[in-house]
Amino acid sequence: MTSVVPRVRHLEKGTGEFTLSASTRIATDDALSPAARLLQASLMRATQLPVGFGDDGQIQLRVDESLPREGYRVEVTPDRVHIAAATEVGATWAVQTLLQLLPPGIYRSAPLRNTRWAIPAVTIEDEPKYPWRGALLDVVRHFLPVREVLRFIDLLAMHRLNVLHLHLTDDQGWRIEILRYPRLTEVGSWRRESQVGAGENSSHDGRPHGGFYTQDDIREIVAYAAARGITVVPEIDLPGHAQAAIAAYPELGVVDEPLEPWTNWGINVNVFNVEESTIEFLCNVFDEVVDLFPSEYIHVGGDECPKGQWEADPRTQERMQELGVADEHALQSWFISRIGEHLASRGRKLLGWDEILEGGLAKDATVLSWRGWAGAIAAARAGHDVIACPEDTVYLDYRQSDDPREPIPVATVTTVADVYGFSPVPPGISDEEARHVLGGQGNMWTEHTDSPRSIDYQVFPRLCALAEALWAPDLRDLDDFEARLTHHLERLDALGVEYRRSDGPRPWQLRPGVPGRPEDKETAAANVQALTANIAVE
Ligand code: ACM
Repeated sequence: MTSVVPRVRHLEKGTGEFTLSASTRIATDDALSPAARLLQASLMRATQLPVGFGDDGQIQLRVDESLPREGYRVEVTPDRVHIAAATEVGATWAVQTLLQLLPPGIYRSAPLRNTRWAIPAVTIEDEPKYPWRGALLDVVRHFLPVREVLRFIDLLAMHRLNVLHLHLTDDQGWRIEILRYPRLTEVGSWRRESQVGAGENSSHDGRPHGGFYTQDDIREIVAYAAARGITVVPEIDLPGHAQAAIAAYPELGVVDEPLEPWTNWGINVNVFNVEESTIEFLCNVFDEVVDLFPSEYIHVGGDECPKGQWEADPRTQERMQELGVADEHALQSWFISRIGEHLASRGRKLLGWDEILEGGLAKDATVLSWRGWAGAIAAARAGHDVIACPEDTVYLDYRQSDDPREPIPVATVTTVADVYGFSPVPPGISDEEARHVLGGQGNMWTEHTDSPRSIDYQVFPRLCALAEALWAPDLRDLDDFEARLTHHLERLDALGVEYRRSDGPRPWQLRPGVPGRPEDKETAAANVQALTANIAVE
């Protein structure tokens, strides 16, 4: 009867049920009224009952300051529904849980025939384990229109996930309007064509691709997410993954040759130069980013920055002497630290991929650890906060089975059960060090995912498993989860989410003929180990 996903911490069944009717009203404390309005909108849309507000409402939302920040209590009896939370966020999670106590039709926009809008009597007390429960959405490799980002936010909220990491800039595109530097989007937001597939036999599609968010679009995304308890963390990737920006403003690059936004996938040699003018340019960009995103953390990338251009360039070598840095890894560290100092002056914290550990970690930086565990361990031991997203477990672009017809035939197999087993705490660290682990996230990179439909297929139901691993890891039970998931998928059906079914892709989900580059787990693990060998673990 109650198959809430992610699992709630404590649930006690009562007797009877509360039934929504034309006389149902909501009463709320002012502090929780945004959550109450979300509840009202959801109930009215699906049931088409005239659910209004009234002091004597049978559904009540009340502040209880004794509860934890994201915690909540829901008590349902035949006469009333009582929601208690200390904060608006806690009340938002209570609303999400309450919706899951109703029939799956509650996620539709019109009542299904013969639906009884009944909520079983129950008492639920709940709070999450980790404060960072996130998903990355790569809107660069394939642009996602605003309405689809809002839909993705709704799906995160439904799973009580609270961070949307938006990957906004990369070699293949620049997706956020920066008023001071209009060419970033005029030039940087479109590429001529896109690579199809991966590996030697891949080809190009001959079709321009692009798009960007205006600052008004960004404000809309941020506000929509905030109303649902979700923080949007922006990522401006540097000093690598920079070709689209260099194409727009060639003076930011190292080599003197015209570039266009990249039409390939992979690691790109073109990186930012290390002139003071480039740092100033980027700080100006971050000033606008900080004004748009209230997030405490601002992500500066730092991943996959090849050092070849810096090594070969006489001016960069001269600059290294000026700066007194020993090698190119230290130069990257200097670069990140300069941006970090600027963010700190604006009251924000720097977040970066685990490569920012190479060459010395910027003061107060938080590490998003993706290449295995070395980065997470090193950062936690050095007293830095960590968020874990190890690629072999929670990369949602990785293939979901070894069926060669998987629409994304790349990387290693990552199943729902693999994701369900994820723990963001690195192996072998002490309890004290584990306190630095803020949580984890799943990453949806979109090189091979060019539509919301194909994103649905990659993300679901693995994201459901991730949500439970981060909300209630100590209650994990795969059989129990799978039983609840069967019912939960009816909710996703009601929402029109085209998730991957356990027996594999449906005909329209196949992409036959796309060359791939599958890897086995052992080879992939050896590659990661080699890549992270220069992260010093004390
Ligand atoms: C990454 O996957 N390059 C962070």
